[in-house]
Amino acid sequence: MRAVAAPLQLEFLDLRHFRAQDLRTLLDEESALWRERLHWDYSGSANLLLQYVDSHLLIGYVAIDQGKVCGYTFCVQEQAKAIVGDVFATRTHANISAAAVEKHLLDHLLETLRATPGMERIEAQLLLHRHGEHHPSFVQAGFQQYQRIYLGSRLEHLASEAPQERLIQDGALRLRRWQDGDFDAAAHNITAAYAGHIDSTINDQYRSVAGASRFLHNIVRFPGCGQFSPEASWVVLEEKTGVMQALLLASRISTEAGHITQVCVAPHLRQHGLGRLLLETGAQSLRALGCSLATLTVTQSNESAIRLYTSMGYQTLHSFDAMLWTV
Ligand SMILES: CC(C)(COP(=O)(O)OP(=O)(O)OC[C@H]1O[C@@H](n2cnc3c(N)ncnc32)[C@H](O)[C@@H]1OP(=O)(O)O)[C@@H](O)C(=O)NCCC(=O)NCCS
Repeated sequence: MRAVAAPLQLEFLDLRHFRAQDLRTLLDEESALWRERLHWDYSGSANLLLQYVDSHLLIGYVAIDQGKVCGYTFCVQEQAKAIVGDVFATRTHANISAAAVEKHLLDHLLETLRATPGMERIEAQLLLHRHGEHHPSFVQAGFQQYQRIYLGSRLEHLASEAPQERLIQDGALRLRRWQDGDFDAAAHNITAAYAGHIDSTINDQYRSVAGASRFLHNIVRFPGCGQFSPEASWVVLEEKTGVMQALLLASRISTEAGHITQVCVAPHLRQHGLGRLLLETGAQSLRALGCSLATLTVTQSNESAIRLYTSMGYQTLHSFDAMLWTV
């Protein structure tokens, strides 16, 4: 692909020079695109991001065209690891394409991160951007790319009663709603379920109980991935021991849509219908909360999960990339 030259009038400035109000219009435009493409109300994430911008702690860049903010990118750094949070440029400029501005923002950010002493790992999942859209920036910077898909299933045909907690599989297992004390057991369940899995290559939080705990706290406590819904999140426990064997977590991403942020089953209990039961229960719970759409993301190479989702009526709505750089 041809390199895009930086338009002469563009400037790229450190995000820490800016205040929330400088980025508000751009984020409103981005929120409209999240809604159109993903049925996702991005305003909670945008507000959280703006709070961080005001705290001047985020690493990132802002693109300026003739004195006006026209794009931004940011990342979050945790010791030797950085996660590229987002990149977005306005679609309203007649003279500069959003793709060109986003490319330059990413090139600046990736160069800065790779030159940061001690940096060992950079992850990026740009959910809003289409598969391949920012391929050149990441490939030039030495990243691996993993295609992911965003699936959706309509819920209008489901009854509106909430599912019941109950014993399943001849009383050996108990299906119950998520409770506040479930963090630790869920972190163990996730770590065991993702051992050797492609998703733990892309996201190293799945590789340790401490990492899975951080993942869970991000999902449950912060609005970055929608508003966590304990009513639509379920766990499966072994009745005799109380050990957690499977879980499904769901968040509201708009008034009409719920997003399954996690579904996993302990390896020894797979292929017995637990994944399907959890997905059906999560979907029914979201319906009972008034949702008409359930969405989820999955890595393209996770064929068995995709087979299960499509057999349950999920269809591809969007395709995006996860990117990974390691030393
Ligand atoms: C994806 C995952 C949650 C599915 O859970 P599961 O409990 O194995 O799911 P199910 O048993 O309901 O269905 C899986 C398969 O078993 C089959 N199956 C279900 N009951 C069965 C039974 N009694 N006998 C034989 N096969 C059965 C299903 O038809 C399905 O077949 P398919 O692979 O051809 O579609 C599980 O594999 C997992 O935890 N994977 C690791 C984490 C992961 O990838 N999560 C999804 C990330 S997006």
